[in-house]
Amino acid sequence: MIDGRSTPENSLTSFDADAAVLSDAPRSDAREAAPSRPAPARRALLMCAPDHFGVDYIINPWMENQIGQAALPRAKAQWENLRGKLAAHSDIAFVAPTPGLPDMVFTANAGLAIGDTAVVSRFNAKERRPEERLFCEWFEAQGYSIAPWPENVPFEGAGDALLDHARGIVWCGYGWRSGEEAPKHLQKIFDRRAVALRLVDSRFYHLDTCFCPLSGGWLMYYPDAFDIASREAIRAIAPVEKRIEVGEKDALSFACNAVEVSGRVFLNACSDDLRSRLIDAGFTPVVTPLSEFMKAGGAAKCLTLQLPGAASTVMQRG
Ligand code: ARG
Repeated sequence: MIDGRSTPENSLTSFDADAAVLSDAPRSDAREAAPSRPAPARRALLMCAPDHFGVDYIINPWMENQIGQAALPRAKAQWENLRGKLAAHSDIAFVAPTPGLPDMVFTANAGLAIGDTAVVSRFNAKERRPEERLFCEWFEAQGYSIAPWPENVPFEGAGDALLDHARGIVWCGYGWRSGEEAPKHLQKIFDRRAVALRLVDSRFYHLDTCFCPLSGGWLMYYPDAFDIASREAIRAIAPVEKRIEVGEKDALSFACNAVEVSGRVFLNACSDDLRSRLIDAGFTPVVTPLSEFMKAGGAAKCLTLQLPGAASTVMQRG
């Protein structure tokens, strides 16, 4: 099921995920997409309605003491609000929610799709393993070719693998959920440089909870979530003038768990300080409260998966 608002314009566009590989890009160089390349008109995102959402088990610190505490009507209203805001600027595809899979709403963990290829997650959290088959079927139905993935390497999709469109690289998180080996496999499959970052604070158990590459080479992130070597790696790749380092308060309200579409940054909450830094960087922060999903350890970004084309393109697959 796809939001049917495709236009001839977006049927001709695909976003930078399809851009040329920049695996040898200079480490300190915030490279922009080639000026000759037309800016993508719309992004495509995958979402899953929260019909069966809830906190039914504990697989991250946010879920502690939250079993049965998420209010479903409020969760539905918050999700609908996010969906509506995103739908104004992007095409949205939907995967069917499934009873007994309360975390399936977090489609960031479906896998990682670049070009025509998708890697389906191999969940570390056994509670989420039944989602793998459903996400795999969805990718297959859209015509993606599914890359083989080693059985013994946990990988939780775009929760731990973030495309940096400006640099053509994939930032990868490991340490809590995805395995240390995952980046190396992603690099091989997608032929893009994968930069491995070790996560050291269990509250920031997926990379997308504390790290958000934005367009134009900007990077919003919470440094304390990473070990020292990873912080250095980040600083070597993203120059200081492009880094938006957030403090613990913003980090704990999952400000970095943001979705950017056409310069708008959708996020659960944002301090005044962060708001003005985003505005100074040329972005428009849009707060969309997601308190019920925070109880499960997720916010805006977790509720979406970037797809490598406009929805009309997605529909043409398969
Ligand atoms: N309860 C879910 C889990 O622990 C939340 C997932 C959030 N997703 C994300 N991409 N950070 O798996």
